[in-house]
Amino acid sequence: MDNAISIITNNLNSENFEKCTFSSPRSKSDELKSLVVYKVQSSQELKVEYRYKKHNDIKTVKKIDFINNELPNFLAGFKQCHLKSSNEDIQILINSKLKSKVVFSTGSTKVSKKHNKTKKYLIPDGVVCPFLIEIGVMDKYGKVKTNYYKKFRQINRFLEMVDDLYKNEEVDSLHAVDFGCGKSYLTFALYHYFENIKKIRIQITGIDLKEEVISHCNEISRKLHFSGLKFVHGFIHDFTTDDDVDFVVTLHACDTATDDAILFSLRNKAQKMMFVPCCQHELNKQLSSRESEVLLKHGIFRERMTSLVTDTMRAQLLEACGYKVQSMEFIDLEHTAKNILLRCNFIDRSGSQREEKLQQYLEFKKEWSISPYLEKCLYEEKFIR
Ligand SMILES: C[S@@+](CC[C@H](N)C(=O)[O-])C[C@H]1O[C@@H](n2cnc3c(N)ncnc32)[C@H](O)[C@@H]1O
Repeated sequence: MDNAISIITNNLNSENFEKCTFSSPRSKSDELKSLVVYKVQSSQELKVEYRYKKHNDIKTVKKIDFINNELPNFLAGFKQCHLKSSNEDIQILINSKLKSKVVFSTGSTKVSKKHNKTKKYLIPDGVVCPFLIEIGVMDKYGKVKTNYYKKFRQINRFLEMVDDLYKNEEVDSLHAVDFGCGKSYLTFALYHYFENIKKIRIQITGIDLKEEVISHCNEISRKLHFSGLKFVHGFIHDFTTDDDVDFVVTLHACDTATDDAILFSLRNKAQKMMFVPCCQHELNKQLSSRESEVLLKHGIFRERMTSLVTDTMRAQLLEACGYKVQSMEFIDLEHTAKNILLRCNFIDRSGSQREEKLQQYLEFKKEWSISPYLEKCLYEEKFIR
């Protein structure tokens, strides 16, 4: 229980603390059903609401007395404690032997079994970051706004993946393209990461079919003096450039738009790619397998299997084109089901290795009776033979 006491004490003493709820009394006959502890103006005090079966009582108590005298009793008397602060949520379960288990934590702080341990983000909370302020994720003092925490974590998670991809690279400048950039949280983050954290001269082009979104993003880019970041209105399919492209990002672009981004990357000999596919309508209609008929007859299973088959097909075809492909979870599943990220690095496989990868792909496609757009284009443009 010491672990629980130290987590709760740290939380009560933190300026981010909002409230702490003890619930599920250990004894059913207990009159006290739950207890809620709130922050008050004075940092030395707390407001405690005692919720009895038939009435409620509210008292203001000295924080030190609550921690020393009452907290151990409440932890012994209740099976659950929920801590809420502006940057994290923690659920603590206490069993009948008074052993505690931290079962749930979100926000900037990950709770280890032993102690509170602050996770180091590439862009930290509490440090002014102009682009995050501009897009509304941080306040002007550098504090991440509570309702933007998921976004903040997603941005950092994305940058960690990019950081890992570039950890062994020694380059002075890069050209990246972000297809289907949308509101461009991640595009701005990418620019900030290369330009300000890695000190690599970066030129990024964001492309999206929504004209208004593009002009808004260009406005923000100008405001931030991100001179190497521009946004272009158009379709992924139509976009061409004469410049070399090193890195292509496509996050959540719909259906075969991801395939168009892959084709662009191959035509422009992009060294690296990262993409998170979105809806995969194309193969949903095609998928058929006698052995898996029982699975595919259920709409929801078919949809999930389609995603897996589409991701596998793209990964295998990219391996046949010379890339090393890693699949990983972009963000926790609680946020979105579309969370598989494929990270690709061109390693120039030998001809025989590519041939082997292609044969594996052909076997795989036969199993699912698919004939994907990407494969057709790769044959047409002779990326595979
Ligand atoms: C779900 S949003 C994702 C935005 C951003 N990449 C992210 O992950 O936060 C998908 C974006 O892709 C754009 N998009 C979809 N298909 C496209 C295409 N064929 N050409 C250009 N943009 C496309 C949409 O307009 C939308 O803004």
